[in-house]
Amino acid sequence: MIQAFVFDLDGVLTDTAEYHFLAWQQLATQLGIDFSREDNELLKGVDRMGSLELILKLGKVQLSQDEKLKLAAQKNTDYLKLVESMSPADLFPGVLPLFSSLKAAGIKTALASASKNAALVLQKLGIPDLFDYVADSNFIQNGKPDPEIFLTCAKALGIAPERCIGVEDAPAGVTAIKAAGMYALGIGEARALAQADLVIPAVSAINQPLLTRLLTM
Ligand code: BG6
Ligand code: MG
Repeated sequence: MIQAFVFDLDGVLTDTAEYHFLAWQQLATQLGIDFSREDNELLKGVDRMGSLELILKLGKVQLSQDEKLKLAAQKNTDYLKLVESMSPADLFPGVLPLFSSLKAAGIKTALASASKNAALVLQKLGIPDLFDYVADSNFIQNGKPDPEIFLTCAKALGIAPERCIGVEDAPAGVTAIKAAGMYALGIGEARALAQADLVIPAVSAINQPLLTRLLTM
């Protein structure tokens, strides 16, 4: 029986995946690198420096570590400008009802976000205390697709990974969930998330019958 849900944040609970894309696209344009939405799929779930490396590789651009750190900081400043105007209204539909249902069913919840801005985004969304556990990406050695962040959440909740459902919109995140030994619930397009056990378009698609099916697997 499933005992916990472990959620990604960006692109699962709110539309910050789009903000990350816009900020990276701005940086890529400045560097003269073509960067499409399709290219961005590879960056989803990947940490800040890892994402920058992928963009530089795409443009075959080589930079010093110092220049890379400056660009990553610039991208973060641009990203934070977009986050600034966020409010509880930016929480995706269905998230709060889902958490009420999970709580009522005695299911634990955790957040497994690669973002160093996760605490700020939770604050903006008005849900700083929604989770039983929030993994601190500052203490994660190996980013997604490594399973470390999902395993850290399972351990902190005291629940075996096989009894957890991981929820992710990113291919790298789904890989991490599967490597952790959890059930992977993909959010988005089935084509992009082929490794997931089940793909649904949005969290709002988790209605009562689906939730009952997931919890009694
Ligand atoms: C992940 C996003 O949640 O966080 C990635 O999917 C992002 O796109 C990563 O690069 C790191 O975020 P931040 O806020 O620490 O730069
Ligand atoms: Mg995501």
